[in-house]
Amino acid sequence: MDKLVIEGGQKVCGSLKISGAKNGCLAMMPASILAPGTYHFKNTPNLTDVWTMSRLLGSIGIFCELNDDELFVDSRNINKFEAPYEHVKKMRASFYVLGPLLARWGQAKVSLPGGCAWGPRPVDLHLKGLEKLGAKIELEAGYVLAKADKLQGNRFHFDSPSVGATGNLLMAATLAKGTTQISNAAMEPEITALARMLVKMGAKIDGIGTSIIEIEGVDSLQAVEESIIPDRIEAGTYLIAAAITQGKIEITNVNPYHIATVIDKLEEAGCEIDVSNDRVTLEMNDFPKPVDITTSVYPGMPTDLQAQWISFMLQAKGTSKITETIYKDRFKHIPELARLGADVELADNVAIVNGGKRLTGAVVMSSDLRASASLVLAALVCEGKTEILRIYHLDRGYEKIDKKFEALGVSVKRVKTELI
Ligand code: UD1
Repeated sequence: MDKLVIEGGQKVCGSLKISGAKNGCLAMMPASILAPGTYHFKNTPNLTDVWTMSRLLGSIGIFCELNDDELFVDSRNINKFEAPYEHVKKMRASFYVLGPLLARWGQAKVSLPGGCAWGPRPVDLHLKGLEKLGAKIELEAGYVLAKADKLQGNRFHFDSPSVGATGNLLMAATLAKGTTQISNAAMEPEITALARMLVKMGAKIDGIGTSIIEIEGVDSLQAVEESIIPDRIEAGTYLIAAAITQGKIEITNVNPYHIATVIDKLEEAGCEIDVSNDRVTLEMNDFPKPVDITTSVYPGMPTDLQAQWISFMLQAKGTSKITETIYKDRFKHIPELARLGADVELADNVAIVNGGKRLTGAVVMSSDLRASASLVLAALVCEGKTEILRIYHLDRGYEKIDKKFEALGVSVKRVKTELI
């Protein structure tokens, strides 16, 4: 198992190409179940989550091959309709195969994902939505068993929007009979990108990018070539890395609109930011001002940057309030940050960060993907050395994180360790 060793006090300076979006790719790969053929995805991130999805699709007969950032997917020989626990337990996005399997093959057996490191993450909305399209769903021995002769279009309203459930329903509705209307749908860029890919495949979808999506079912779809959108969470994380170290960064292959809220907040904290077509530059010459954030659905502040923002605010001279509204228990990073000297008080879903305290390096433990990123950021400004264990969490969502930091003039060393 690898760990990261980070010497504090380094400045992030340089230019960096952002990878394709993990969450975009994980939604688009299962769309290949909907139509037999060969797909070609460009700008694919080389991440363990993408490998996990490749293995899961492989287990149902879909061949996936990743060469650099090009992913080839051949879905002509699907021969199983099951997503086993061994894959789903590793990665919740595995649940994305449910809608497409049901729509094209009329049956699916998908393991329930169970809990997550930071608390419960139910799938009731996925199931309710598919039931609304006529699926018969039973739960048995930890699995969802879903059946439908032919899905029927219907209206489905989300009480609160879900990214995954919107994606699942959207894919299922493309091959349903008649029209489906999804209201209060998730508007995250990864869902919009999935909808655009489905249209390219021949689906009829209106309202893409809005909270009301209308899908008119078609008889069949075709395989396509598609480019994965840039990863807005990776982009936000490296911008914060430059800001926290009072450095200067240019990120390329990014869609600035996708991170508009993050850019606003960074400016409020004192960063100088310049934005053009597909690049963002950031320069920071001081400690940040304290800036409160409240996570919310897109286009609000992403929950996937909450942990990183807490690390950033540890450097602010003053107090900031971080309110988590999407995953109310998502604060596993706080006890680990405390080992570095962080002073953060937690009450329910609100973290009060008392910034400006001395941070010193220590051995800390990754608990989940974004929590691990927050530890890397904090380690960059600690006095002395920090060792971050269990970095397989980071490899799920940050492509070559050590190499990317090296290109930015910062030594983040990957070391083999016996410690777990
Ligand atoms: C996706 C992202 C994840 C991100 C999250 C929120 C992927 C692969 N993952 O996860 O990185 O943190 O969006 O932006 O794209 N909920 C229910 N019932 C359901 C489904 C969700 O109650 O059936 C709740 C969740 O517990 C959560 C909220 O809805 O409180 C939003 O979750 P959701 O948008 O579904 O997140 P994911 O799609 O799992």
